[in-house]
Amino acid sequence: MPRDETEADPSVGPTSPGLQAAGLSSAIALFAEAARTVPLPSPPQPIVIADYGAGTGHNGLLAITKAVGVLRGRTRPEHSVLVTHTDTPDNDFTTLFRTLAEDRASYLRTDAAAFSSAVGRSYYSQILPSNSVNLGWSAWSIQWLDRVPMPVGDHIAVAYSADAHVRSAYARQAAHDWHEFVAFRGRELCPGGRLVVLTMGLADDGDFGYRPLLLALTEALRELVADGVISSDELHRMSLPVMGRAAADFAAPFAPSGRLERLSIEHLEVLDAEDRFFNQYRTDHDAKAFGAQWAAFCRFSIFGALAQALDDAARRTTFFDRLEAGVAARLAAAPEQTQIPLAEVVLAKRPKN
Ligand SMILES: C[S@@+](CC[C@H](N)C(=O)[O-])C[C@H]1O[C@@H](n2cnc3c(N)ncnc32)[C@H](O)[C@@H]1O
Repeated sequence: MPRDETEADPSVGPTSPGLQAAGLSSAIALFAEAARTVPLPSPPQPIVIADYGAGTGHNGLLAITKAVGVLRGRTRPEHSVLVTHTDTPDNDFTTLFRTLAEDRASYLRTDAAAFSSAVGRSYYSQILPSNSVNLGWSAWSIQWLDRVPMPVGDHIAVAYSADAHVRSAYARQAAHDWHEFVAFRGRELCPGGRLVVLTMGLADDGDFGYRPLLLALTEALRELVADGVISSDELHRMSLPVMGRAAADFAAPFAPSGRLERLSIEHLEVLDAEDRFFNQYRTDHDAKAFGAQWAAFCRFSIFGALAQALDDAARRTTFFDRLEAGVAARLAAAPEQTQIPLAEVVLAKRPKN
């Protein structure tokens, strides 16, 4: 199932946290607040933090290091904190462990009693022991569907497909995935534990957003067909298995009692995240840099999913390079703000009576 494989791909340019950094600071504040309030185990039992869909760890580090600092203020210096970074088996765990060792913001550098571990399994099953996780974090991950119901066909983003049958199949899959994700986390969290989720939202009017970006991508892909870099069959098969969710979608598994697996929603907000590249453009008027930043982000985060449709791997690097250049040029020609609907959810597990 394609999802962000570009992180481990040599054809990828410099990594760009770009969009992933959007909304991060308010989610980190929610995570720090959770670290302030969750019940803690008594030593020698470690405090356990899980990062679900950790990727290469870079953005998650900011949240986790912050939480470790907050927890340390509540417990003795020798009380161990065990952080477990989870992702699919094909994730670039080598880069993750290097980041943990080398990044100056890493909790391994700021806290002598913090330890790291990893789990290479999809979070659409139980992947950690029951009642073992005190704090959970998941950023920019659960928008990727577990399974692609069918090719979208008429657009790379299902949200903009004209086919209502396709749209509803994807919506059912997204509802199923969220339900499963919540149910399994409900088992893994300790009583009183908290889970903070940052993911793609849908605006109040149901809008998925990202219009200028998707338009530039679509036009650049058509140009690649015209130039013979990819075939029209390959373009037809290209789609991004990502779904934004509305506030009601997040709440659905908790109806009607407000609880699922002893979990309930403590905080739920869908907001419009800042387009940092556009704000920078507003200040420096550097259209080329604006286009290049968004294009580098696309390369980093979504080209890998599109490249799954290529019949052979030999054209992968050309495909990445040409698509990045095409997207950058189009966005630079007409800089526009991108709407980024973002959802923040905090789930809490009922404490022991
Ligand atoms: C865009 S990256 C985000 C990485 C990191 N959380 C961040 O904020 O930068 C999405 C990550 O979610 C992971 N992911 C997607 N589906 C997953 C699943 N079913 N189980 C575990 N990880 C998953 C991908 O492999 C990828 O590393």
